[in-house]
Amino acid sequence: MAVQISPSILSADFARLAEAAAAVPNADWLHVDVMDNHFVPNLTLGLPVVESLLKATSLPLDCHLMIEDPDRWAPAYAEAGAGSVTIHAEAAKAPVRTLREIRSAGARAGLALNPATPVEPYEDLLGEIDMLLLMTVEPGFGGQRFLDMVLPKIRRSRELIDAHGGRLWLQVDGGVSESTIERCAEAGADVFVAGNAVYGADDPAHAVDVLRSVAAKTGPAGENA
Ligand code: DX5
Ligand code: ZN
Repeated sequence: MAVQISPSILSADFARLAEAAAAVPNADWLHVDVMDNHFVPNLTLGLPVVESLLKATSLPLDCHLMIEDPDRWAPAYAEAGAGSVTIHAEAAKAPVRTLREIRSAGARAGLALNPATPVEPYEDLLGEIDMLLLMTVEPGFGGQRFLDMVLPKIRRSRELIDAHGGRLWLQVDGGVSESTIERCAEAGADVFVAGNAVYGADDPAHAVDVLRSVAAKTGPAGENA
């Protein structure tokens, strides 16, 4: 398991997304938050912007769909060329079919859980996914405070993932910063989304390096990196 950093362009200037991507050449992914103003109380961007971003950067896109009816919309993001497409368990009505469609279109399939959604009911889905995303804030906005109440779920998820062969990535998203990333890594996360901590910094690339080195020093991801 190696530490991976996925800067969230939600905290970047939406009129300069190509520059935001170019500012973090040392990132592993570019995290793209798709919000529909229904599943979450915020509206961001959709497939046309993702298609433009794909042409504007060589970083793989980590698309996080905070939308209703992901069964209908998610496969198109994979077909467009996103490297990873994550749907919310709370929104999907046919997650097995949708996750399989994402994979068969050539993307990694992710399943996201809100802070209050337990992981245990989804254990049988672990074979269908490449990444589990645990929200560490209520989804919808950048710059929120990290929820420590999710830490026990990160630990339980790491145990479940290890019991299933340890192949899955465990992503955390929300309030991840230089001061909270250590707790997440220690609990077993290995992919870290960071919006404000990267794009709120004077030097986004340096912020990525700092986050990576703090995470790599800690926890299961660091020990085995
Ligand atoms: C929130 C989004 C996050 C957000 C994280 O709903 O899913 O990806 O951009 O932003 P920070 O790191 O600022 O909490
Ligand atoms: Zn996100």
